[in-house]
Amino acid sequence: MSLKIAATSVRENAYAPYSNFKVGAAIRAASGKVYVGCNVENVAYPEGTCAEAGAIAAMVAAGETQIDEAYVIADSPTPVPPCGGCRQKLQEFAGGTVRVTLATTSGNETHTTIADLLPGAFAADHMTKS
Ligand code: THU
Repeated sequence: MSLKIAATSVRENAYAPYSNFKVGAAIRAASGKVYVGCNVENVAYPEGTCAEAGAIAAMVAAGETQIDEAYVIADSPTPVPPCGGCRQKLQEFAGGTVRVTLATTSGNETHTTIADLLPGAFAADHMTKS
């Protein structure tokens, strides 16, 4: 299934009564399977979760830990980039060259990579003692 179709479809299920800003995310993992997520807000605002986090959680719950491609879509004037926390979450499971497509519901797309989204990312090897 195309990431665009998957992300567009799951976005409809977003629970965003506070921001009214629905986001959909789709990830193609190493197996080729596609995992999706949408934002899920909460009346206690900080408890809300992003679409990317939902897709990553679905992927890991299914037993996969490698992202090969990601797609994020929202109804915004320009393709909305992932928030800082989601950049770190994506980076955990994706190499720097992995392609991330950011899209608007009106059809605009921007292509970027994990490395471009999070230059200088904190990674496991930074915890190696010198
Ligand atoms: N949101 C996402 O789901 N992903 C992003 O990358 C940016 C922001 C959600 C969080 C919140 O529910 C709403 O968009 C407004 O910030």
